[in-house]
Amino acid sequence: MQNRIVLLTGATSGIGKATAFGLAKEGFTLILPVRNLEKGKKVQNEILTKFPQTQIHLFECDLASLASVKNFAEQVKKEFSALHILINNAGIWKNKLTFTQDGLEQTFAVNHLAHFYLTLLLLDLLKKSAPARIINVASDLHQGEINFADVEFRKNYNGLNAYKQSKLANILFTRILAEKLKNDQILVNALMPGFIATDIFEDLPFFLKWLIPIFAKSPEKGAETTLYLATTPNLEMTGEYFKDKKRASSSYQSKNMNSAQKLWDLSVKMLQEKGFQVPVI
Ligand SMILES: NC(=O)c1ccc[n+]([C@@H]2O[C@H](COP(=O)([O-])OP(=O)(O)OC[C@H]3O[C@@H](n4cnc5c(N)ncnc54)[C@H](OP(=O)(O)O)[C@@H]3O)[C@@H](O)[C@H]2O)c1
Repeated sequence: MQNRIVLLTGATSGIGKATAFGLAKEGFTLILPVRNLEKGKKVQNEILTKFPQTQIHLFECDLASLASVKNFAEQVKKEFSALHILINNAGIWKNKLTFTQDGLEQTFAVNHLAHFYLTLLLLDLLKKSAPARIINVASDLHQGEINFADVEFRKNYNGLNAYKQSKLANILFTRILAEKLKNDQILVNALMPGFIATDIFEDLPFFLKWLIPIFAKSPEKGAETTLYLATTPNLEMTGEYFKDKKRASSSYQSKNMNSAQKLWDLSVKMLQEKGFQVPVI
């Protein structure tokens, strides 16, 4: 796995930061898109202090802006001739209905749509670099269905429901992408990192916050399954859901390929409506 290039979103805190350290330890070259360059440089320095040989390429990229995602993907394609692993890790939880620069509901936009778009923009590079892997950080909270009638919950927003739906979207995207890429030597898998003490719970209602110090595990523990999927040689499974470094079962709805295709079509439509063309695969 030496000298392989990995692109990881959300490396500035929590599970992503622990994942970046784990990847550096394994000798990967890191491409890190961050929305806050100062925070990114701090993490870069921390990694370099521990693993001085690591090649780290920081880019400014705000996943709450489709133009920023597009611009970042273009820079990556210009500057790198290979990409072996894409880890879609960044995620948010918003208690109140909030919107991105594109006027899209934040949770759906950041947790699903931005990563959907980024992945499709980088597919050619991944295909060229095969064998390659795409790893989507989802959650056991993916229960429920996609609310196709109002995918942004504009009429009746609830932070938990928006988050759950976005994590279901991560798994549906994983399954259908794996199917579409089955002849391209690109493995696509999703995972549950565990219940991990991170900043994502900042916006959690106070009556739930008490659970964190008692039950949540460390970010290092949370990075283990992502690192397992990134570094295990001869992995063959694709389109699967993992937990505790093993294949795990996911909800009935997360296996519904009609929903997966419908979500794909809706995602393409939403991007097109904002003026962003999606590569056809
Ligand atoms: N923690 C858990 O118990 C748990 C359980 C299941 C699944 N997960 C999943 O694990 C993943 C990582 O979450 P975490 O718990 O490690 O949370 P976290 O500590 O809050 O980290 C989230 C990361 O995403 C980045 N991010 C958020 N919005 C962004 C944007 N608009 N543009 C670019 N980057 C953005 C953050 O950047 P900043 O540093 O700039 O904020 C940060 O690096 C998420 O997909 C989450 O859904 C977490």
